[in-house]
Order: sequence, then C-alpha cells, then structure tokens
Amino acid sequence: MAIKRIAVLTTGGDAPGMNPAIRSVVRYGISQKLEVMGVFRGWWGLINEDLKIFDHRSVSGIINQGGTILKTARCSEFFSAEGQLRAYDTIKKNNIDGLVVIGGNGSFKAAHLFCTKFKVPCIGIPASIDNDVNGIDMTIGTDTAVNTALDAIDKIRDTATSMERIFVVEVMGRDSGYIALNVALAGGCEGVIIPEKELDLEAICHDIVHGNLIGKMSWIIVIAEGAGRADDIAKRITDMTSLETRTVVLGHVQRGGRPTALSRTLALDLGKVAVDCLIAGKTNKVVGLSCGKIAEINFETAVQKKDLKILELYSLIKTLT
Ligand code: F6P
Repeated sequence: MAIKRIAVLTTGGDAPGMNPAIRSVVRYGISQKLEVMGVFRGWWGLINEDLKIFDHRSVSGIINQGGTILKTARCSEFFSAEGQLRAYDTIKKNNIDGLVVIGGNGSFKAAHLFCTKFKVPCIGIPASIDNDVNGIDMTIGTDTAVNTALDAIDKIRDTATSMERIFVVEVMGRDSGYIALNVALAGGCEGVIIPEKELDLEAICHDIVHGNLIGKMSWIIVIAEGAGRADDIAKRITDMTSLETRTVVLGHVQRGGRPTALSRTLALDLGKVAVDCLIAGKTNKVVGLSCGKIAEINFETAVQKKDLKILELYSLIKTLT
C-alpha cells in the first residue's frame, strides 16, 4: 500500500546538520507527493501529540542553522509501555504511515523497540557529534564539531606557546574518542587520551619532562570526556612533573554553530534516501555512508559498539609530535 503521510522528529543530543536533514525530508517528501508532519521535542512530541503539517516554507532559512527547529529531548517516558502506547495512538490518530528519526545511538535503540513492537515503518538518519553509530563512516554533525573543537585548540595553541604552558583540553564524544583523535591530529597536539586506549600517564609525563630538557615548553594534551576529566589529568601531570598546567573543557560549544558543508551535504543526501526507503516500504534501517557509498544498516547493527579503527590515527599522532 502506498504511503501518504510521514512524520519527522529529532531526538537525543542536537547536532549541527539536523536542520538541513529536516529540510531535505520535508521538501523531498513533498516533491514525492507525501504529506510531511514535523514532531516537536522528539519522542515527547509523539507521546503528547505535539506535531503539525509542514509545507515547503516551514523549512525556509534553516539550512545554515545549528540545532534543530523541531527541538529535541531525551525522553525516558518513551521507554515505558504507557509512553509507547500514547506515541502509537498519536501515529494512528494522525494517519502517519512512516517515521524518520534523526538522532544518535540512543535514539535508534528507542526507534528499534518502537517499530518492532508496533510495526510502524521507521528509518533513522544518524546525527550526533559523537560519531558512534556502528556501520557508517560518519554521523551528521561530527565534522562540524571537530572543526569547532579544532578552532578552539588553535586558539589555545597561541597562548600555550606564548606562555610556554601545558594545557589539558577536554572534548565531548560520550564513550567515543573520535573527536579527540581527530582534533589532536589536525591540531598537532602532543598527546591524546581516549577511552579506546589504556592511559599511560607516566609515558606522557616522561615525554613532557624530556621535551622540557630539550627546549620544548608548551604542550596540548586532548582528553575525550569518556576517558576522564581534564582537571584530574592536569593535577596528576603537575604532581608527577612539578610543572604548572591549565585546563579547558570545551563542552557544549561543540554542539552548536553553522553546520559545515560536509555536515550539510550529508544531511541533505540522507534526508532524501530516508524518504525513498519509506516509499519503498523499508523499515528498521539507518541510512548512512559506508566507505563513501550510501548504505542501509539495520537498527540492531547500528546500535552496536562502533569499532573506531583508532590505532593508526593514534600512532600517527605520536609519530608526528
Ligand atoms: O551525544 C552528544 C553529547 O554531546 C555527548 O558528546 C555528551 O556526552 C552528551 O551529549 C551531553 O549530553 P547533555 O547535552 O544531555 O548534557
């Protein structure tokens, strides 16, 4: 049976590029003669019937904006049987034939549960700064977040070099070291601490002390939030080397800002692909790029722990320091 009406929502942590993804789903959907509803505040909006029909102009002027015009939330109520039933009621009442869920790992776990239980066709578009969706090259928003963090690291470098100091900079990524590794490489940082690799602080301190002896006085060590706290590492470095340290926690600044061209084009492509999947009667899939080509990954696979293949990057950072 041909589908007539779909709905799109953003859930979990916002990511730069969600807006271009919404724009693509809405405008491509309309071009395919579908009605498209926008659901506000993710699963919460389905539970509380907070949604409306979008037209072409509903998504004007958002292509260059970070965040999400649909708003987003982390919604524990959606994991209760009652919450799910209310969400399903909204879907039935509004004659929604398929859902596009724009979000990260946690969003896809919820989507998988929901579409399996209620047989609602559901396609995921991976958007998260963490790049932790398994089976795809990169989530929407990752490239922007890495560039935002890199911009900050470049600025920190100016003061670190001028005052000959050691900085420990904490970046986001939840359990993933992707942002940390990539800014450390692109920013020429002297050390990187990630959850995927056991911490050897003695080796880092040895390098710092040895560097000082030969005149290298400034250091930037990047730590992924999933591997520990910048303050703790900085204190331990000071204890072990007797050298002063400074810390910076980049935090939510990495979630905002204009999406880069890469985040936008990925979002615009995947919006179309997601709608095509629903039209073709597909469900339970995350769409993304795998080795540069469009791929459809089952939700079950997408939510598995992603194997980052970090070792090459890690050793390149060390070699180039
Ligand atoms: O998943 C995106 C992310 O920004 C993570 O990198 C971070 O750990 C988390 O969300 C922060 O969540 P919140 O915005 O709820 O504090």
